[in-house]
Amino acid sequence: MKLEGKKAVVTGGGTGIGKTIALEFASAGADIAVCSRTVETIEQVRDEIIAMGRDSLAIAMDVRVKEQVDKMVQKVIDEFGRIDILVNNAGINRPTPILDLTEDTWNLILDTNLKGLFFCTQAVARHMVKQKSGKIINISSTASLGGNDPGQAAYAASKTGVNAFTKACAREFGPYGINVNAIAPGRILTPLIYASRTPEQVKRLIEVGISASVLGRLGTTEEIAHLALFLASADADFITAEIIACNGGRTNLMA
Ligand SMILES: NC(=O)c1ccc[n+]([C@@H]2O[C@H](COP(=O)([O-])OP(=O)(O)OC[C@H]3O[C@@H](n4cnc5c(N)ncnc54)[C@H](OP(=O)(O)O)[C@@H]3O)[C@@H](O)[C@H]2O)c1
Repeated sequence: MKLEGKKAVVTGGGTGIGKTIALEFASAGADIAVCSRTVETIEQVRDEIIAMGRDSLAIAMDVRVKEQVDKMVQKVIDEFGRIDILVNNAGINRPTPILDLTEDTWNLILDTNLKGLFFCTQAVARHMVKQKSGKIINISSTASLGGNDPGQAAYAASKTGVNAFTKACAREFGPYGINVNAIAPGRILTPLIYASRTPEQVKRLIEVGISASVLGRLGTTEEIAHLALFLASADADFITAEIIACNGGRTNLMA
């Protein structure tokens, strides 16, 4: 198994892409700490992982709160002894036209998607640097590559920040044997897509997502998890500082 004996942290691991990554990593042999704010979802994923014969922790925490992040990382170290893989997947979107965007909404999106990712990375990397190994996988977005619709300003800015932070981390942590990469998913039907959108807006989003993809369809959480598994495994030991799109080929991003 590709991740036999590895210890992983997946933020936002109770739903959507994060849940599928947590389960895929567990099938590949890893023990998983599943983290987010909602106890029910992370405990459900933890129980599924334990039923697969792996070890798992469900840790309720908010990535925006440094003390909670530090406590979560300490708990994983206490229980698992080390952290080999961090998947910074927790994220939100609140589609809003720029002229209606409030400071609170801007802060909510940037604090969750970018500052929270920084807190988690810093806390985990302190251990990875000491152990001189590790894989960090950041979940970015095609919105960071320019493939965004109106209303995505704060979200696209946060994810573009994730890409820049990914490269900076890859540079600083590379000498310690730590690989840092980002995945930029295309459109996938998860709770994030439905949040803050009317059914009509979701329908339109699906139509646009399908027509903008060369493959003529949306993606699946499994397709992102397969790429995350590759990046977390020894197969990707010479890959770092990359922002890898997994979006079925977006025609609006082609020259
Ligand atoms: N779906 C897509 O089309 C798409 C495309 C590109 C990129 N992405 C990215 O993929 C990632 C996963 O999103 P998803 O599509 O799978 O949607 P999702 O199911 O809504 O997942 C987001 C996860 O983040 C967690 N989260 C949100 N705020 C948090 C906070 N403050 N602290 C801790 N956890 C928090 C949520 O759990 P709690 O609410 O329980 O905290 C939830 O489990 C996100 O980073 C998103 O930007 C998604």
